[in-house]
Amino acid sequence: MINITNINTPQSKNYPHTIQNQPHFCGIAPAEKLAKDVYVGVRDTLIQETAFFREPEMLEFVKEYITTRLKNKPEINIIDGACSKGYETYTLAMMLDKIGKKVNITGFDIGNQAITEAKKGVFLIKKLCGNEDTIEAYRLGMDAYNDDYLAFSNTSPLNLKQQEYRKVFYDFFTEIQNYKEKRSLFERMREILFSKFTPYFKTKAFKIKPEKADTCKFVQGNILKLDEIVPAHSADVLLFRNALYHLTTQEGPLGFKVQLPEAYIIPTVEDVVKQVDQALAPKGIFVIGDHPSDHTLTAGKTLYSELEKHNFSPVFKNSDGSMSLIWMKNG
Ligand SMILES: C[S@@+](CC[C@H](N)C(=O)[O-])C[C@H]1O[C@@H](n2cnc3c(N)ncnc32)[C@H](O)[C@@H]1O
Repeated sequence: MINITNINTPQSKNYPHTIQNQPHFCGIAPAEKLAKDVYVGVRDTLIQETAFFREPEMLEFVKEYITTRLKNKPEINIIDGACSKGYETYTLAMMLDKIGKKVNITGFDIGNQAITEAKKGVFLIKKLCGNEDTIEAYRLGMDAYNDDYLAFSNTSPLNLKQQEYRKVFYDFFTEIQNYKEKRSLFERMREILFSKFTPYFKTKAFKIKPEKADTCKFVQGNILKLDEIVPAHSADVLLFRNALYHLTTQEGPLGFKVQLPEAYIIPTVEDVVKQVDQALAPKGIFVIGDHPSDHTLTAGKTLYSELEKHNFSPVFKNSDGSMSLIWMKNG
């Protein structure tokens, strides 16, 4: 079992952000793709940019890698970096529940409140409702939230994977009956008045079953201080999905993201890759996620060249082959 150090006050190494003090650093990316004036109200009701079974093909690869390439290891250590509120961490626990190995899963995030909520084990699933045209337009920008089939009945039949995920979801979670989301009077009035034009969410809440509550551990921590969280060469799988871009951009005026100078980005990426290399066991894998900004950290693709310098090879690409989403540590 990995001995994880609980970091209560992560101080950054030359880190210009102060996001560790923000309650949630989530939920804004999809809106970048949308007409803000129309959808900003809906965007505000999002609480995080994460989801159960997000990017399932990549997760299925991780599962297969563990059960085939690491089949001789009786115990597997997984570190879910930048885990947000734990949706992704519990997803891994659900997918690896019956593989016949002991799996230790630890999620960490820089956000205090995200980790506090992950530890509570209460999760919301939101279904987008309202006018069909606006829903479709909005859905275009929110691939991360496609987990409503787990909790709500759907008009289209579930595919086999969705059926499997739904089943294991109810092995882990029970619904909190009569859950009422706290919404301001203004939000509720807006929903009623504009429900014909603006999408809105229906929400269900779920609680982790007591017998599954120990399947994941959560600690606060900073990707930039990975060496303080993960003992050297102990992790078989390390995920930083949809998070690296936070290291290379900064919140600018009006909430727009501003790219930091290359003079800052390059040493940061070098440092992160060095720590990833140190944290992983031989044949361990590093999972990046499919947020394009995670892959184009600089024009020179510093991340990929750094990984190659440390003897990593890509083992899983996105569907058009343009991004290497999972890297294996050779040797
Ligand atoms: C878009 S969410 C991704 C959540 C999850 N990995 C997923 O793909 O569903 C990005 C997360 O990165 C976290 N984060 C940003 N910078 C971080 C850092 N330096 N160390 C740890 N977590 C960080 C944020 O708090 C946020 O929860």
